[in-house]
Amino acid sequence: MTSMLALELRGLCKTFGGLQVTHDVHLGLAPGARHALIGPNGAGKSTLVGLVSGAIEPDSGQVMSFGRDLTRLSLQDRVKMGLVRSFQITSLFPKLSVLENVQLAVNENTGVANQLWRGMKDMVAQRERCLEVLAELQIVEQSDIPVENLSYGKQRLVEIAIVLALKPRVLLLDEPAAGIPSTETQLLLTALHKLPSETAILMIEHDMKLVREFCADVTVLVSGKVLASGQSEDVMNSETVRDVYLGRSGPDRFKGVKAHV
Ligand SMILES: Nc1ncnc2c1ncn2[C@@H]1O[C@H](COP(=O)(O)OP(=O)(O)OP(=O)(O)O)[C@@H](O)[C@H]1O
Ligand SMILES: [Mg+2]
Repeated sequence: MTSMLALELRGLCKTFGGLQVTHDVHLGLAPGARHALIGPNGAGKSTLVGLVSGAIEPDSGQVMSFGRDLTRLSLQDRVKMGLVRSFQITSLFPKLSVLENVQLAVNENTGVANQLWRGMKDMVAQRERCLEVLAELQIVEQSDIPVENLSYGKQRLVEIAIVLALKPRVLLLDEPAAGIPSTETQLLLTALHKLPSETAILMIEHDMKLVREFCADVTVLVSGKVLASGQSEDVMNSETVRDVYLGRSGPDRFKGVKAHV
């Protein structure tokens, strides 16, 4: 029977030089999952997200989504299948307007930009979709303003707008709250709550408050291996995780903790 998991990682492995950064990682996310990926610096979290998004090629293992094997697909083809990673502010064009940025990214990632011959109707539909998303995020009034004139928090909302406009079935977020003042983290959370409930989200996050608030499930990655995975409270309270990890710097901040397994 076909697996109905939104995302399934089967034995993913990746070595950089002599260093095994991803070690036989298995992970399953049901549709609608809100799943945090946590672990010390250098644990291999971003690498794992890169393997899932298609930015990095695995040495072995598979990336499955709704029963389909995406392992050999390009990053862009995965986007078309509904597997979307968050965009970094560094990929925004500062002088272009909010709407132009969202439209450009959406066109680029859905391949419409390369198909002008079939274009106008698709372009118009996408513009409407982009405006709808900006309205949902309450930044539609700023749609004609250059991105560089927005606050940092709002710029991150533009990244989220791009992701929303792409209608992901599986969303990968690498530290979405990094560098955002706590007052603006709420904006981000509100935006994330507006994603369809069936969208599965895998979120790398160091801020435990945000993890507790948003994620029902947690996987702890240490030295490229899954140390623990399950419901947030169970994982946070597990002896192994506390010993290896939480005990060293308190429960609310993981960043900077060195793994010793
Ligand atoms: N392209 C690469 N080439 C060589 N080594 C790499 C490459 N990318 C990552 N690494 C190494 O792989 C390990 C895991 O890195 P990764 O960025 O995945 O960790 P992380 O868990 O995201 O850390 P952080 O919390 O600091 O973001 C690190 O030792 C890093 O130096
Ligand atoms: Mg990282």
